[in-house]
Amino acid sequence: TLKEHIAEVEKFTADTTEAVEAFRIKYLGKKGLLNQFFAEFKNVPNEQKKEFGQTINHLKTAATDKVNELKSALETQSEEKGIFGDLTRPGEPLELGARHPISIVKNQIIEIFSRIGFNVSEGPEIEDDWHNFTALNLPEYHPARDMQDTFFIQTDPDVLLRTHTSSVQVRYMENNKPPIRTISPGRVYRNEAISARSHCFFHQVEGLYIDKDVSFADLKQTLQYFTTELFGKSKIRLRPSYFPFTEPSAEVDVYWGLETETDYRMTKGTGWLEIMGCGMVDPNVLDNCGIDSKEYSGFAFGMGIDRIALLLHQISDIRLLSENDLRFLEQFKSAL
Ligand code: PHE
Repeated sequence: TLKEHIAEVEKFTADTTEAVEAFRIKYLGKKGLLNQFFAEFKNVPNEQKKEFGQTINHLKTAATDKVNELKSALETQSEEKGIFGDLTRPGEPLELGARHPISIVKNQIIEIFSRIGFNVSEGPEIEDDWHNFTALNLPEYHPARDMQDTFFIQTDPDVLLRTHTSSVQVRYMENNKPPIRTISPGRVYRNEAISARSHCFFHQVEGLYIDKDVSFADLKQTLQYFTTELFGKSKIRLRPSYFPFTEPSAEVDVYWGLETETDYRMTKGTGWLEIMGCGMVDPNVLDNCGIDSKEYSGFAFGMGIDRIALLLHQISDIRLLSENDLRFLEQFKSAL
């Protein structure tokens, strides 16, 4: 009877695909039991039609569910066997991610300075006036503040997005005694028009070295070591410049051309390229940060990671670095 069939279907079990298929044919096949019952339907007396119909439908659902359930159990089993049993099966391809070019270059810079004893320091991106400006010899109304195109938060002039990671150096000096050798990587913000060459945020690595008797020669030698490590054998030149927090100050250019070991990466343009600012820390800055300028001296430098990344990887537009276009980012898969 129908009821017996339902009971049989519900307790049915099988551990081969053949057995499941035989079961399926028996119940759901063209000449299977269900079709036979459906054919009988017209002979059933009217008053029993309703109950009969419901029971066949119940049987049909039970049989269909059982077949699906057993099939998927068998599939999982055979997949597991495939993975653990057949060692000649080819592996699944692994999707490897890529490091962002900014991270690649930042890590290179950190590595180079860590070899000569610099540690890494970090600080907040939302800063106050003291750490971003005043401690760095930029009092209120100092004209050089305009150079920085600062983003202020709402209307409070004491809450701003840092314009350089020199703010981290201030924090570091406030909390550590010399000798100090630290580099401060991080994101900085400036209210500049966005173009292929500049953005309203970018990344810096600033460096600070403070000890007794630190001289300008120490600065030059450190910079020459750094550019040689990063660009290969390279020429640098220092041009006199001005920063409120250093005296004397200089702009560092690196020669990008055929003599540079890295010239194979160069597709266009040769000549002197500005890569960073530097100078001897102004004694006022040391005193502002609790370091006795009669006892200690030091140098500082700061560079933009983004532009160096453009240079090293021949990227034509700085905006590519923040647009998250996978076609661009995936090109860095092999660069660690
Ligand atoms: N803070 C400067 C800037 O953001 C860079 C700099 C750092 C210059 C240290 C000199 C010394 O442009």
